[in-house]
Amino acid sequence: MSASAATSAAPPAPLDIRGDFPVLARRIDGRPLVYLDSAATSQKPESVIAAIDDYYRHHNANIHRGVYTLAQEATEMFEGARARVAAFCGGVADTTIFTRNATEAINLVAYAWGREHIGRGDVVLITQMEHHSNIVPWQMLCQEVGAQLRYLDVGDDGALSLGQLDSELAGGRVKLCAFAHISNVLGTINPVAEMASRVRAAGAVSLVDGSQAVPQLPVDVGVIDADFYAWTGHKALGPTGIGVLHGRRELLERMRPFLGGGDMIRTVDWETSTWNDLPWKFEAGTSMVAEGVGLGAAIDYLAALGMENVRAHERELTRYALVRLGEVGGVRVIGPVGADERGGVISFEVEGIHPHDVADLINRENVCVRAGHHCAMPLMRRLGVPATARASLGPYNDRSDVDALVAALLKARDVFEIG
Ligand SMILES: Cc1ncc(COP(=O)(O)O)c(C=O)c1O
Repeated sequence: MSASAATSAAPPAPLDIRGDFPVLARRIDGRPLVYLDSAATSQKPESVIAAIDDYYRHHNANIHRGVYTLAQEATEMFEGARARVAAFCGGVADTTIFTRNATEAINLVAYAWGREHIGRGDVVLITQMEHHSNIVPWQMLCQEVGAQLRYLDVGDDGALSLGQLDSELAGGRVKLCAFAHISNVLGTINPVAEMASRVRAAGAVSLVDGSQAVPQLPVDVGVIDADFYAWTGHKALGPTGIGVLHGRRELLERMRPFLGGGDMIRTVDWETSTWNDLPWKFEAGTSMVAEGVGLGAAIDYLAALGMENVRAHERELTRYALVRLGEVGGVRVIGPVGADERGGVISFEVEGIHPHDVADLINRENVCVRAGHHCAMPLMRRLGVPATARASLGPYNDRSDVDALVAALLKARDVFEIG
């Protein structure tokens, strides 16, 4: 597509929601904020902030145990949020476990399923594009039990090879395969349903890291049909401190608990205990009640926008950004070429300027991007770069944000006298 085609064609389903996000009204040094770091964390709409405020002002109590009105209200708000979060992702409440974040959800599987089912000589298969949170728990597990950690390669087009997946599975030693739905560096959208189905056919268990996907795409865990699907609330317009693990019931029921303590038990005797029903068996201690309520409000907001519309909006904005970045000399975008194959995560290099200097210079124009390894050091090694700059989109971004990024990059090049 030519630049003029991209700039003249209006996005098919533009969202106009910036006004719902209080922080985006902020000005720094008299100029507007250009927030392009949603892959790190999203901004929060007024409704999420209000839901948390309302919870603490009017309903705060510990849940599940109290008979008084406040405790019942708090329990209903938390469990109601769980039911809506589950439905939003095509799941059901009792197999939707609240964790602290995606990292904890993945660790839960590594400890509670992995320790019991993975042993010496087995293989855990992941990919070169994983976030550290989907690498390190498996490294720790493999070291502990004597299993081997193997990686699917990332091709030069930023994609994985299903052929390589098949040949790894054909080796017969893979017990678990874990992969991102959308890469937080490359933006690549992986064919997770197809991958999960091949993993299953080989008798192994699959885990999808959906941290970047749930905020960007319609996600139906029933259709994807992986054994585990993990994501994190703060990237999906929700508060920090809450993540989600959707699990296959048969596996969850047979798994040992992850953490022990209050709430996850049915009975406790001097020597032994018995476990609570799902999902509470995996939720030891006082839950993150306000965070659950906030996440419920976040997915209500996203559901009202319609995830098809969010995807369409961000895809068109990504398309526009790819074209506009192509106009800045010396910019190399990393990852899939087309907007259809990627989410709204755009890593790039500017020839002659270190990514940290890029981020620093464009921050002078209030343009917020991230520079570094993005918690994906093995992928940086695969790409042969120490770091990248990364602009990432949220549903509240529009073309003016991309234009501001491009203008700031042109200025940065002037500072370095490139061009
Ligand atoms: C793909 C991916 N997985 C996992 C995570 C970890 O999320 P959290 O730190 O909320 O657990 C991130 C966060 O950047 C991510 O981008």
